[in-house]
Amino acid sequence: MKLGLLFVAAMVSSSQLLADSISFSRDIAPLFRNVCANCHLTGEEAGEIALHPQVAWSNLVNIPSKQSTMMRVKPGDSDNSYLMLKLDGTHLDAGGSGMRMPFNGTPLSEEVRAQIRAWVEEGAREN
Ligand code: HEC
Repeated sequence: MKLGLLFVAAMVSSSQLLADSISFSRDIAPLFRNVCANCHLTGEEAGEIALHPQVAWSNLVNIPSKQSTMMRVKPGDSDNSYLMLKLDGTHLDAGGSGMRMPFNGTPLSEEVRAQIRAWVEEGAREN
């Protein structure tokens, strides 16, 4: 019983730490610049979403996706944020289309996706 409580306490504090430590400009925008912006540069390309650092946040948060009825990022709701589904590869189940992102590339690691998810859950701040 005691051990169980300790475990729960450790889980809560480590997810808190993870969430608190995520910054869009420091942790996420540079990743999108390196892994995504070569295909998503001007917003004229397929997907119609520019993801270079100056515009990535404003093209994601509370912006309707082209391929589904979801928002690209719905603050506080990663399950209904199409960006997360495209990164997890679950977008087809939700009525989306196309490939898992990055298109034809290595999927982002569990850790990186957990970071992005935590940023969404924390309100998708422009921080
Ligand atoms: C090699 C080119 C390429 C790379 C790299 C790439 N994408 Fe895409 N992306 C596409 C194409 C092409 C589409 C449209 C067809 C599809 O969805 O498969 C698309 C569509 C999307 C959409 C759907 C937009 C909407 O509103 O419905 C999102 C979101 C997206 N990409 C995010 C990303 C993210 C985030 C990354 C980096 C982790 C990334 N892409 C990397 C080519 C790419």
